[in-house]
Amino acid sequence: MVSARQRRSNPTPPSTPSSEEEGALTSANYPRHVAIIMDGNGRWAKKRGLPRALGHKQGGEAVRKTVQAAENLGLECLTLYAFSSENWKREEGEISDLMNLMRRFIEANLKDMIERRVRLKIIGDYNAFAPDIVTKLEDALERTKDGERTLAVALNYGAQQEIARAARLAAEEGSIDPESIEKHLYTVDLPPLDLLIRTSGEVRLSNFLLWQAAYAEMLFTDVLWPDFDEKHLREACETFATRERRFGGR
Ligand code: FPP
Repeated sequence: MVSARQRRSNPTPPSTPSSEEEGALTSANYPRHVAIIMDGNGRWAKKRGLPRALGHKQGGEAVRKTVQAAENLGLECLTLYAFSSENWKREEGEISDLMNLMRRFIEANLKDMIERRVRLKIIGDYNAFAPDIVTKLEDALERTKDGERTLAVALNYGAQQEIARAARLAAEEGSIDPESIEKHLYTVDLPPLDLLIRTSGEVRLSNFLLWQAAYAEMLFTDVLWPDFDEKHLREACETFATRERRFGGR
């Protein structure tokens, strides 16, 4: 079996443009898997004198548009950092706003995801969420399981926790090495991570995909998440296409 570590080369990009405006990327170096640390909802709201909750709401709208953009650009997988294992430290009211947003997002977008053949995947321990959210997520996982492209959403996710869990499972099977650990990461069935984007001007990984980012390209933009759109995603993918990737070789 070919492991994710061995699957480093990119396939031929889609030949038929799916975006009415500009179409799918045409470079052979286009990314298959893009992950985004969606940051800046609070600052977006503050700049406008609005409550943080409205920043998150607008962030939810940017999620919807970015999922569509990823499809237009022909990405196989988009992974979004929606709620980290450290986000529980936020105020109760804000956590509750984020949970409500999650509920509404699934309700409002599930039908569309099924029609567009987007497979939902969750990375992280989502069982920590309220039972009704867990039920909604599991229903969505089941109903989108035959989708062709993947939207992976990180929920109650922390990369250090993911690696520790994978190492524990690998140890139970008798060997700890990169391959045996990788087999137990949440992302085992996803294409290798090509490009990691963080919005809002912060330049750190914040416990996101630390293992998977080993050879990913990084792109940090000052754009606040609620303002992020297809143009920004396209530019990021085009920048990625110009990068020379050597994976440690010459
Ligand atoms: C960071 O902004 C964003 C988050 C902690 C949550 C991300 C959530 C969303 C984009 C909305 C909902 C997502 C889904 C999948 C429905 P921040 O609050 O840290 O912003 P700040 O640093 O400017 O305060």
